[in-house]
Amino acid sequence: MTDPKLRVLIPADKIQARIRQLGEQISGDYPEGDLHFICILKGACFFMTDLARAMARDVAIDFMGISTYGKGKTSSGEVKVTKDLDILLEGADVLIVEDIVDSGVTLNYLVHLLEQRRPKSIRIAALLDKPERRLRPVHVSYVGFQIPDKFVVGYGLDYAERYRNLDAVCVLEDGPPE
Ligand code: IMP
Ligand code: MG
Repeated sequence: MTDPKLRVLIPADKIQARIRQLGEQISGDYPEGDLHFICILKGACFFMTDLARAMARDVAIDFMGISTYGKGKTSSGEVKVTKDLDILLEGADVLIVEDIVDSGVTLNYLVHLLEQRRPKSIRIAALLDKPERRLRPVHVSYVGFQIPDKFVVGYGLDYAERYRNLDAVCVLEDGPPE
C-alpha cells in the first residue's frame, strides 16, 4: 500500500520471524495438556492464526469480542463482552492472544473474567506492547515487540476499521485525533 501517511515500523519479515520464535517458546512451555488460544477480536486474528501455525503442538482456538469505552485520556475502564467463547475453559491452559497492550484496561478485565471459569492457567501473548501507556497492571508473558507511544496500524490493527490487512506494522503519521 502506498499511503503517504504510513511509515513502516516493523516490516512483515521481522513480524513473521518473531512469531516463529514465540511459537517455539510457547510450544516448549506447554509440552502437554489442553492448550486454548483465545483470540481477542478483531485485531488479534492475524497474529493468532500465524502464531497457531508456528506451534509445534495442537492448540484449540476460540474467539472473544470485547469493547472498551472511554479509552485514551479518559479511561473509564468500562469493558463489555460482545462475543463470548464457545468452548469451556475448565482445566485447560489458556493463552489470551491480543494484538496490542495499551492501557491494560481490556486485558486486566479479561483475565479476571476468565479466571472465574476455572482454567488450569492463564497467560497472555501480545504482538505489541506500549508499556508507557499502562493504567492497569497486566502481566504479559509473551511480547512480540515493545513499541513507543505511537498510534500504529496494520497486521490486524486498525484506524476506523482501515489498514488491518497490511502485512507490516506502520505508524499513522498524522492520526488519529486524541
Ligand atoms: P487497552 O485496553 O488500552 O490495553 O486496549 C487495547 C486495545 O486498544 C487493542 O486491542 C487495540 O484494539 C486498541 N489499540 C491500542 N493501541 C492501538 C494502536 O496503536 N493502534 C490501533 N489500536 C490500538
Ligand atoms: Mg483489540
